[in-house]
Amino acid sequence: MNINKIGLLGAGTMGQGIAWALAAAGKEVVLYDIKEEFCVKAVAQIGKSLTRAEEKGSVAAGTMEAVVSKIKPTGNLDDLAGVDFIVECVFENMDVKKEVYTKLDNLLKPEVIIATNTSSLSLTEIAAITERADKVIGMHFFNPANVMKLVEIIPAIQTSQATIDIVTELAREIGKKPVQVKEGPGFVVNRILIPGINEAAYILYEGLASAADIDTAMKLGAGWPMGPLALADLVGVDIALAVCNTLFNETGDPKYRPAPPLRQLVRAGWLGMKSKKGFFDYNK
Ligand code: 3HC
Repeated sequence: MNINKIGLLGAGTMGQGIAWALAAAGKEVVLYDIKEEFCVKAVAQIGKSLTRAEEKGSVAAGTMEAVVSKIKPTGNLDDLAGVDFIVECVFENMDVKKEVYTKLDNLLKPEVIIATNTSSLSLTEIAAITERADKVIGMHFFNPANVMKLVEIIPAIQTSQATIDIVTELAREIGKKPVQVKEGPGFVVNRILIPGINEAAYILYEGLASAADIDTAMKLGAGWPMGPLALADLVGVDIALAVCNTLFNETGDPKYRPAPPLRQLVRAGWLGMKSKKGFFDYNK
């Protein structure tokens, strides 16, 4: 199956990174969000980062133009009508997903697969919303999605083998390493990583070490490329909390209860790098 033109829903942190990864692999991307300006801003940010990378010499001259020209920003869902494949990374709320999937079902060619980047909602429940449940699948990228090599492929109970094969092949084609995971809260990476972030937040809450020292400890003592609290700021404290809540609610296991600092930061709107403040301050 030839997948050349991909519709990408959601121009937030993950949407931006995935658009970058797809366009860098030569795919045409139609980037949709409820307001076109969100998409324009995401494309401008990709352009800015790639210009810097060109200046540093870490990518070839002309890369910025080649990547950015492949991404078409739009605030009109109808512009996704002719695409070959969908990657969905809209807001992690089942009601929002329901609205979007109902519209997509009517808009898309019947053979089009919808891959969702959800990290906290049930694939089976998402697939059940649609008239094409066998063509709905999880395709979970990692932040920053233009850099991180892994893609978790998560079939819903309804997903066909043909869909799994196509998505696995697409992940390879764009230079990622796919691993297949059965549906379960947190899949593999978040099931391990988010409790680590949560534990770091508990250590902070208990006053055992400062945020900077917790991160230094895990970088220098465990070889993490960045500390757990900086990582929470990178993925978004709100996202870390949402995944932690999913682990807790789906399993009922108290070991996953979210640490108070995660809730506090989210209530304050200090969501990490995207809001310039989280466990650390990025205003400087
Ligand atoms: N966005 C885009 N590109 C970024 C970036 C960002 N936020 N941060 C770094 N990069 C790029 C840099 O531009 C650089 O590219 P270049 O080689 O072309 O210049 C490259 O990544 C390497 O960056 P640096 O040299 O500045 O820094 P590092 O070598 O320390 O790497 C890192 C940065 C890749 C972010 C590394 O610290 C890392 O791997 N951190 C852990 C990330 C991680 O665990 N992600 C998974 C989170 S879980 C998740 O996303 C799932 C979700 O459901 C919650």
